[in-house]
Amino acid sequence: MKLKNALIISDLKGMAKNRVPKMFFDYADSGALTEQTYFANESDYAKILLRQKIARKLSDRSLKTTMIGQEVSMPLALAPIGMAGMQRANGEILAAKAAQKAGVPYTLSTMSICSIEDIAQATKAPFWFQLYVMRDHDYVRATLDRAKKAGVNALVLTMDLQLLAQRHKDLRNGLTAPPKFTPKHIYQMASRPMWCLRMLGTKNHSFGNIQGHAKGTENLRSLSAWTHDQFDLELTWDSVRWIKDYWGGKLIIKGILDVEDAKSAVSAGADAIIVSNHGGRQLDGAPSSIRVLPEIVEAVRKNVEIHIDGGIRNGQDILKAKALGAQAAYIGRPYIYGLGAGGEAGVTRCLDILKNELDTSMALCGERDINNISTHHIYSNSLL
Ligand code: GLV
Repeated sequence: MKLKNALIISDLKGMAKNRVPKMFFDYADSGALTEQTYFANESDYAKILLRQKIARKLSDRSLKTTMIGQEVSMPLALAPIGMAGMQRANGEILAAKAAQKAGVPYTLSTMSICSIEDIAQATKAPFWFQLYVMRDHDYVRATLDRAKKAGVNALVLTMDLQLLAQRHKDLRNGLTAPPKFTPKHIYQMASRPMWCLRMLGTKNHSFGNIQGHAKGTENLRSLSAWTHDQFDLELTWDSVRWIKDYWGGKLIIKGILDVEDAKSAVSAGADAIIVSNHGGRQLDGAPSSIRVLPEIVEAVRKNVEIHIDGGIRNGQDILKAKALGAQAAYIGRPYIYGLGAGGEAGVTRCLDILKNELDTSMALCGERDINNISTHHIYSNSLL
């Protein structure tokens, strides 16, 4: 299939599956354990019904809004995704460029292949940086310094990965962080020759934000040991407070699924929270993020901006998240599929598909300004 013929996100997914080596496609596609939460993220959106309205003025429609005070062309940002540079050579740079052109924020993961500096050099728009709090606090401080120097204008602090949940596909594929290449992997890569050719054309093959920046990460073996050892089992709200002080800029706290945690994030000084179960990749058996959104909105909407991720697969899902009180949503897998399918143009295609679906659905709900979307645009008793 050609990129221009991709009409929905699952078209991009099919293309990516044919173009990306299996272990990396599966990495993005996995949820934890039974993948119940991963699938609930998607299927719960389908249970929310939109309210059709007719005979409304629908010219001059606008999807423009703000996220943490920043103007965005639609209520959407690109979520941080580990190892995006393994879906396609220089994947993070390509995704950041597509986001910049579309006027939506790009969030670079700590566990990215391209570095903070690579993104700063390749783009003009300020981007966001996602931090995992590592036990090596010198590394954390140095990374925050690098992010400030690179012009990063918001820090996204992920709080739901103090340890990694079991993802069966990764274990079966023998995927490690960073990737180690066995004959099986070499076979998977060799069956994707264009992917290989592009990889040969870049120097970016390891964790660009870590290797050579943290003590004891000089080679792949030591980097692997460091990565496994560094996730912080002692992470608490006190850690968030010192990070906020050290960072000094906008702070978005990611991984909120519980009302009390949402209140703690507000007390810790978050500018925004992301209602998230990490795309169903951490606590399997937890509810979908859209299911808990209303109670979190009810509890903290006056004190903090509320974002959401997990399960957004079309523009209508963004509309439903807005209707239930989110200021904006993030996508992960949809743009990763676009990236695997067609690099920067594939991410652009993904964003165009979502924007078009969002705009048309908003109009058919009788609304022309995304900022007016509210519970009136859905059947409020229709979720679950
Ligand atoms: C990292 O964030 C992952 O979910 O693998």
